[in-house]
This record gives sequence, C-alpha cells and structure tokens, in this order.
Amino acid sequence: MNINFTQRIDDNVNQLIVTVLFLDSDNKLIYKNVTLSDDDKTVLEKGGKETSRFKSGCTATQLWYVAGKKDDENAIRKTCAFFYKTAKKYSYSNAVLDFGTNESGIENLRLAEIISDSLFMSDYKYDAFKKDDSVKLENVTICLDIPADQAASVIEKNTIIAKGINLIRDMVNAPANIMTIDKFEETAKNACRECDLQVNVLDKKTLCEKGMNLLLAVGQAGIQEPRMLEITYHGAENEKTNFIVGKGIVFDAGGMNLKTGNGLNDMKMDMAGAATALGIITTAASLKLNCNITVLLPLAENAISSKSMHTGDVIVGYKKKSVEINNTDAEGRLILADAIAYADEQKPELIIDIATLTGAALIALGSKITAGFFTDKTVKDKMLKAAQITGEGLWELPLADDYRGYLKSDIADLSNISSPPREAGTITAALFLQSFVENAKWVHLDIAGPAFLDNDWNAYPAGATGAMLKTIICYFETK
Ligand code: BES
Ligand code: ZN
Ligand code: ZN
Repeated sequence: MNINFTQRIDDNVNQLIVTVLFLDSDNKLIYKNVTLSDDDKTVLEKGGKETSRFKSGCTATQLWYVAGKKDDENAIRKTCAFFYKTAKKYSYSNAVLDFGTNESGIENLRLAEIISDSLFMSDYKYDAFKKDDSVKLENVTICLDIPADQAASVIEKNTIIAKGINLIRDMVNAPANIMTIDKFEETAKNACRECDLQVNVLDKKTLCEKGMNLLLAVGQAGIQEPRMLEITYHGAENEKTNFIVGKGIVFDAGGMNLKTGNGLNDMKMDMAGAATALGIITTAASLKLNCNITVLLPLAENAISSKSMHTGDVIVGYKKKSVEINNTDAEGRLILADAIAYADEQKPELIIDIATLTGAALIALGSKITAGFFTDKTVKDKMLKAAQITGEGLWELPLADDYRGYLKSDIADLSNISSPPREAGTITAALFLQSFVENAKWVHLDIAGPAFLDNDWNAYPAGATGAMLKTIICYFETK
C-alpha cells in the first residue's frame, strides 16, 4: 500500500473519498473552519454518501465520517480503520482520506504518524493457506499539509515498524505444525540476516552443559528439541545491554496437566513473546536505534507423552534454585526463569520479558491491555509514557509482597504454582519470575490477552497483533 500526503485530490482515478469531520466542545461539527448546521450534522450522522463524477469521467464515492471530539488520538485510529475497511468493502484500490484544514486539534506531523501507522496496521491478512482475492487497496492519498521530507520520514519509519509487526503476526498466526521449533529458528535466522544480526543457537547439549534444566524439562516431550536463541544488536558505544526475553512455547498442550476443551484453542500463539522479542530486535536494527539489545528466546513445546514432566518433579535450573512442578501447564515461567537468570548474570542495564504467561491476565485486563510489572520507577514511567504515545494498552499490576509466600513448596525452594490456586494468578506468576532476578532492573509484560484477538478490533484484524513491539521501540527511541 502506498501512502501519499498531498492536498490535491487526483480526479483521474475512480476512488473513494472519506472526509473527516470533528466536533468542537459544544458538539458542533466543524469542517474547513466552518461550523456546520445541526441539520447537516443529522444528515452526516445518518451516514451521508454521495456518488459524483469528475470532469475526467472518473467516479468518486464521497463519504463523511464524524471522527468524534477534537484532541482524541484514538478517534483518529478508529477513523483510519473505518476508512480502510470501507475501501475494502467497496473494492476500491484508490482512496482519499481528507482532513481538510485539520480540525482534529492534533498537530499535522503527529496526525500523519498516527494515520500512517493505523493504515499499515490495517493492511494485513494471514494468507499462507487461503488466498485473498479481494481487491487490494493500493494507493491512499491523505489530504493533510506536511512538508515532503517529513512525510517521507514518517512513512519510512512506519514501514519498518509494520514490517516488524507483520513478522510477528505471520509467525504467531502460523499453525503449530508449521511454526515448529526448527522453523522458528530458520525464520529468525532469515529475518536477522536481512538486518545484519547473528543468531547464536544454544542447542540441547549446550543447555545441558549450562544447567538450563527448567527449559530442558519443559521441552523434553516435544517433537523437536528445546533450544535457546541469542541475538545481539549493538547500536551504542560504552553502554550496557538491555535483555529482552520472550516466551517461545510453540504449542502449549499443558503437558500432563493437559488442557481441555476451549483451553487448547489458539495455543499455537504461546510463542508470541519470543516472536515479539525477535520483531523488536530486527526493527531496532533496521531503525539503527542508539541502544544495545540482547534477545534471549527459550523455545520448547509443552507436549504430553510418556516423556513429559510429572507433577511433583523437582528441577534445579540455571540459578540452582529447586522448583517443584505442581502444574505442568505453568511452563512459561519455567523456561523464562532459566533465561532471566542467565540474563541477570551478565549485569545488564535492564531485563524485559514478554510472555503469554497467564490466562488470569486475559480475565483481569482483557484482550486490549497488557499487564506490566516494574521494579524501577524511572523505567516504569518511561514505558507507560511510551505506551501512551503508541496507543497500546499497558497497566501496572503490583509485585505484592503479601503473595510471595503463596509460592512455597515443602520440598523445594519454590513451587511453580501458587496456593491458594485461584488467587492473583498473574501477580504470583510475576513474583515467581522476579525471584530469578538478583541484580538488574526488570520489566515483566504479560501479553496473554493482547497477543491474539478473537475478533477484529480497530486497525487490528483478528489473530496475532504484535502487541508491545511499538511501545518497546518507542521506549528505546527516547533516551
Ligand atoms: N500459555 C498459558 C497462558 C495463556 C492462557 C495464554 C490463555 C493465553 C491465553 C500458560 O502456560 C498457562 O497455561 N498458564 C496457566 C497457569 C496455571 C496452571 C497456574 C493458566 O493461566 O491457567
Ligand atoms: Zn501452560
Ligand atoms: Zn503457556
């Protein structure tokens, strides 16, 4: 999809024209500095639509869309999603989004950023197995006054971000028979080659030597051997690295605590954290961000077979802490524990982990908001601000001391599930992970809800979303 910022509507093509209007504080409609009458408003709210013919003979369908109140960035995102869907619905390959004199209350450059981001996000379909024969929206003209060089850099940046998001989407939407551990490794190597990054693979033998027994235990029944990918991006001199650890369970059947019924649905998406971390590092490298990032991707399949972990097994991982496995379905925290302990040992600036960790996060915050845990206030403020800028939902939950005792085991240092069992599942999972962090500042992002949508939402088609890539990129962009 080409996006072009200009103020002139080309009358040599058949196209859809959507004119965007805003309400002022008195709920009056304004367009091109003119306040429209209440009658106009009534007509527009009923869905004004007009088909006209240009002098050239080409036709245009003109729609008016009331975005909402001024100063609302989310209203712009919704408008772009409406615009994209409408063009697809009427099979237009050319369409114009007309902001007139920009009455949105948002400055032109910021508006251009939000528009191009939202349109690129809309322009995705997972079509590996079912051909999409709908008409492609090829050319979008945005009527908005911004200098050509600024327009070009906004488009360039958002093209790179969309590429990162679509890499995640393709990986997470791919079924588990395709996105196996081998295939994940191959996809990571291909994506990294394009931006000059090396992938270091810690194979089963190396994991054994290093004592990463939690990762090995989770993966011991999988079709392919568990492993850990390590990727480093060096973009800043004399600065410590930031680790990003992503949960890479290529399918979560639950193990011996087998998931049942709907619980098994969409468990191909349990590698979304790892795919997201990969998307972040390739995007950071393509944008040449001024920071250092090391990604750790523990990969395993949580399968059921005679080789699966048993409940009651005690495993000593990389950190030499013993863990009693009281539920084999709480596997994400096990593979992350080894990776986090390994990262912490390198004395990094920061560790961020991203994981589809708990069903409880989906219950608590739904599919539009990520649960965030932070040990450092400056990092927290900066990341919450980044989420606001990118429009992604992120909400802090507490690392509550009162719940630490819930992870006690009679025979090991820790139990992998909490008791009482149904209380504060997202928080106790975070506390489990925190016990593997000794030195570093740490952020834990539970994306169990936002990683994968059951239904379309704004610019996000159902399925994988790439949630949190934009926020973390924005975090590293600002020093
Ligand atoms: N991968 C799941 C969490 C999940 C559930 C992600 C639904 C996305 C949607 C995780 O491994 C899991 O099974 N967690 C258990 C933990 C429990 C056994 C303490 C859960 O949430 O039920
Ligand atoms: Zn599980
Ligand atoms: Zn899982």
